Parts: sequence; structure tokens; C-alpha cells
Amino acid sequence: MSTGESDTIAEAPVTNRKQPFPRGFLDTISTGWADRPETMPVAREQAAFAQARRDTVSAAFTGKRLVIEAGSLKQRSNDTDYPFRAHSIFAHLTGWAADTEPDSVLVFEPANAGHDVTLYFRERADRTTTEFFADATVGEFWIGPRPSLAAVAADLGIATAHLAEFASGAADVTIEDADLARFASELRLVKDAYEIEEMRRAVEITGRGFDDIIHALPDAAKHARGERVVEGVFHRRAREDGNGEGYDTISASGPHACYLHWTRNDGRVVPGDLILVDAGVERDSLYTADITRTLPVNGKFSDVQRRVYETVLEAADAAFAVARPGVKFREVHEAAMGVIAERVAEWGLLPVTAEEALDADAGGHHRRYMVHGTSHHLGIDVHDCAQARREMYYDGVLEAGMVFTIEPGLYFQIDDLTVPEELRGIGVRIEDDILLTEDGPVNLSADIPRSAADVEAWIERIQQG
Ligand code: GLY
Ligand code: MN
Ligand code: MN
Repeated sequence: MSTGESDTIAEAPVTNRKQPFPRGFLDTISTGWADRPETMPVAREQAAFAQARRDTVSAAFTGKRLVIEAGSLKQRSNDTDYPFRAHSIFAHLTGWAADTEPDSVLVFEPANAGHDVTLYFRERADRTTTEFFADATVGEFWIGPRPSLAAVAADLGIATAHLAEFASGAADVTIEDADLARFASELRLVKDAYEIEEMRRAVEITGRGFDDIIHALPDAAKHARGERVVEGVFHRRAREDGNGEGYDTISASGPHACYLHWTRNDGRVVPGDLILVDAGVERDSLYTADITRTLPVNGKFSDVQRRVYETVLEAADAAFAVARPGVKFREVHEAAMGVIAERVAEWGLLPVTAEEALDADAGGHHRRYMVHGTSHHLGIDVHDCAQARREMYYDGVLEAGMVFTIEPGLYFQIDDLTVPEELRGIGVRIEDDILLTEDGPVNLSADIPRSAADVEAWIERIQQG
């Protein structure tokens, strides 16, 4: 990694695949550049929210030196890296998100009244350095200019200093610390107004991405790897209108829909099958949507597909109906599972009654057809608040301001001998993003059609329109 410290131009590097920089270049490269205009940004919208979060962290870790690293570029191969993604705790506490400079560090230094907080990052290099023109990882000639210390301080409302001044020294608490991970996760269980609005917008863009997918389905059906066509269409929307996808798109057609995290996406999209698409746009703030729709490729559900689809919808609606402040998170899952167990028992798939299957110790037979949970918290991470204690999460009580998914499914594997042949190879999931308010749940993704009839009308509208 480059420290950003100035190398002198006399030491310009020589590599095995480039001509060395000749004297004339070295003598002139630092000169002839216009002054940079230094317009100070006004503080971004999330700055005040991030300040409030830092105050909460400061009060919880009195007298401790906290060192919170954004993380570094990760090598993909040779001299190519994965796209940089700041650590979620860092982004949450700074408000610096998609535009975070790699290797930045947020430091809480104990001070009388709490902590002095400083954000260290690699400020842009002077044009008299070799970094400016010769460093392909961080140099301005290669990846574009970095902001100044003053601009970031104004943008985020945090004191800034150059990374070279960061004294790593002894830290009482780092990003690896379990107490900090737990605290930061539980701090995110209830979202603030900024976070809620970001997720609303992420869902809105994701809805447009699903429209794009439906428009592309006929083309996907003609391509040997139609699932990739679907993935690519969504990627375009995610990159054009957001920062990208919040997680790898699951584009799972036909029997692939039964593989819960199918991201190979290299299969055909066959008319007559269903395609399950689980996809979410992440905003520049890093808040993401997480939506699944299961679509009939030819625009119409068959009778058996419809029966499975409507059962999953019934389970989702049952979960939605119990979600309100004061009930336990786990009750949402239990409501969905009650419907799944009842229906698969009615269809004769279980060796026991629905009641027996729902027994917490001796049952679970119905889980063969839906092994995953019904809900997870959603936010800056798709599976947000992951280090919250179980008593705050699965066994925790729902509060207004929480945002979570409701995503039941039914999956009948292609070779599952416990189900009739007509069900084999059918996988359905319906996933919505829910904001809990004092008045009950609000489905943030209600505008993305859900019922079988509405999905059919949606496909017809987009493909005929
Ligand atoms: N997209 C992963 C999930 O739904 O949890
Ligand atoms: Mn999910
Ligand atoms: Mn999902």
C-alpha cells in the first residue's frame, strides 16, 4: 500500500514493462498546472446523523481509545483489486460511504468531555511527488484526484488529518473488538430518518430494475445463459441509479430457484418455468434494498405454479399481519411457518400433522421446503445488525423504526422424492422490505407487484407497452 508520503521525483520507479521516465519528463511534470479551485462543500445530509451516532459510541466507550478503520483495497489478482467497500461501522459513524478513501481511520481519542474525534485519510498528493503521476493504485494521473483535508472536514463535519500523522499506537478498541461490533450492530437496529429515506429510495430504484428485467425476459429466453442477461440488466440499473448491487444478484430460473443463493446465473430462462430474482440496489450511502420476485417467464402462472405462489404469498401476508411494535421478531417467522406447515400438510407432503411439524423440538418436517429464516434486519448491510445479541435480534422485541425483510419461500428440489412430480423443480420466494411504525408495518416495496394476478398484469403491461 502507498502511504501517500512524497517520494522525490529523482527516485521515479523503473518497472519491467515500461520505459523509464526520461529526464525531460521528470524535469517538467510538476510544472504547468493550474491552481486547484478549493470550493468547500456544505455538510452532507447524513453528517448530523453520523455525529449523533458518534456521540452515542463515545458515551458507551468512555476513556477508551477507539480506532475504526475503513479497510484497505483487496487484491483480486496481480495488480487488480476488488472495488473498495468501506467497513460498515466506519461508514455508519462517518457518513463517508461509497466515496470513502481506502485506508482511512476514524480515531476517538479520550478527552475530558468524552472523546476528540479525528478522521485520518490520505489527502491528495502534491504534484511534486512521484505518486502524482507514477502510482497506479492511488496516484491522481491514474485514478483521479482525492479530496483535500479541509473539504472532507466540511463535508462530514469531522476534524481531519493526513494519514501519515496517524499514530497507530495502542488502541483499546478496534474494528475487530467484539464489544464494538455488538454495540455498532445494536445501534443500527432502529433506523434514523436518514436511513429510512435511503432505503425507501433504494427500494424505488430496485423496482425500476425489476421493470427492466421484465422488459428483457424475452431476450433472456433466447440466450444460452439467460440468467446472466437478467443479472446484467439489473446491474446496469444498479450502477446507473445507485452505487451498485447490495449483494450478488440471484437470477435463478427453473429448478435453480431451489438453490437459495444461486449466483452462478449461467442457466437458461425457459418459457413455462418460473424465474426467481433476488436483487437489491445499494445507494451511494451504502444502504440497500433486498427484494425477491418470482416471475413466470411466459407471463402466466400454470395452475401448480400459482398454487405454490399463492401459498408463499399467504405466508408473507400472515407474517406482515403480526408485525407490530411489542411483538417478538421470532413471531413474524412463526406466523409464516404456520402457513407453510398447514399447506404442505394439506398437500400430503409431511409424514406428520401440521401441528406435530410445528413442535419446536420434535417437528420441523416442513422446513425441508423452506430451510431459511423469514426475516432479517436490513440497512447498510443486507443482513444488517449481524452482531447484535440474540436477545436483541431473533428473541428481541420489534420497535418502530426497524427495517427488516419478510421473505418466505417454498422450494421443491428437482430430485425430491417426497413431493409429487408436478411440484419438483418449482421454487418461489416473495421478499419485501418492511418499515415498522407505531401504527404497524409499512411495506416499502408494495409498489412492486406481489399477487399472482398483479405480477401477470405487470409483465403484460411492460412487455406490451
Ligand atoms: N438476498 C439475500 C437474502 O434475501 O437474505
Ligand atoms: Mn433477504
Ligand atoms: Mn434477498
